Amino acid sequence: MSLFKKKRGTNETMKKGAKLITAADPQSPISEQFRTVRTNINFMSVDKEIKTLAFTSANISEGKSTVTANVAITYAQAGRKTLLIDGDLRRPTLHSTFNVKNNRGLTTVLTSDADEIDLEDVVKESGVKNLSILTSGPIPPNPSELIGSHRMQTFIDLVKAHYDLVIIDLAPVLEVSDTQELASHLDGIILVVRQGKTQKVAIRRAVEMLEFAKVRILGYVMNDISAENSGYGYGYGYGYGYGYGQENKKSRFFGGSSTNKESK
Ligand SMILES: Nc1ncnc2c1ncn2[C@@H]1O[C@H](COP(=O)(O)OP(=O)(O)OP(=O)(O)O)[C@@H](O)[C@H]1O
Ligand SMILES: [Mg+2]
Repeated sequence: MSLFKKKRGTNETMKKGAKLITAADPQSPISEQFRTVRTNINFMSVDKEIKTLAFTSANISEGKSTVTANVAITYAQAGRKTLLIDGDLRRPTLHSTFNVKNNRGLTTVLTSDADEIDLEDVVKESGVKNLSILTSGPIPPNPSELIGSHRMQTFIDLVKAHYDLVIIDLAPVLEVSDTQELASHLDGIILVVRQGKTQKVAIRRAVEMLEFAKVRILGYVMNDISAENSGYGYGYGYGYGYGYGQENKKSRFFGGSSTNKESK
């Protein structure tokens, strides 16, 4: 039984990978919008440095993997040594996006009995300067338990010492309960909201669940802003909250376009 009416998503990025516009065309207006997202995350780092960051959404197919990979690339392009982790063990995409093997990865680390992990055994180069990737690895029968495990938290603490920034693509909050477990251990979370698709009630529920787990929600990325609103046909906005009982009730948009609207 489901509380929300769900429109099931597409498997396109699982098969073909996410589109990396920031690598293919760094000068495009869309790449510029991803850089705006990066800039606004940096603003949030002023009081408390953000070294571990994850992107999630309420439901599947909101654009998490696309947004996460492109934002990670903009950090790498800015000279930050970045590790991008595929933490969505139900719908992994990172190996397809960067066209690498997935025979070893995050699950190899999480299911290993070894006390010490040699990062070089599992982390791969992405082909983008300064960006390393950790793919999901083979998917076990209990994927979400692994993400919520203590070992996962210990692993994140270990890797963050080796990189300027660790970015994780996490499974949707309303689909996988263990997303919150890990999220509460990170410096910040960003919610990806797909304009015209994500229902307000789903965003509200996702925010409530994250807040209950004491997750630091940095803001949201409004994905797939329509041509009418953005002028580009493919836009990203960034802002805080939706006024659902969060401290900062006022919606603020920094990136994307000046005419961004809230999701329906
Ligand atoms: N701004 C956009 N404009 C057009 N298509 C988009 C946009 N963002 C994502 N897509 C497409 O939507 C689909 C889902 O995107 P993506 O896989 O990034 O989402 P996801 O939230 O990671 O999904 P999943 O729940 O499967 O992990 C893909 O086919 C992707 O190419
Ligand atoms: Mg995904």
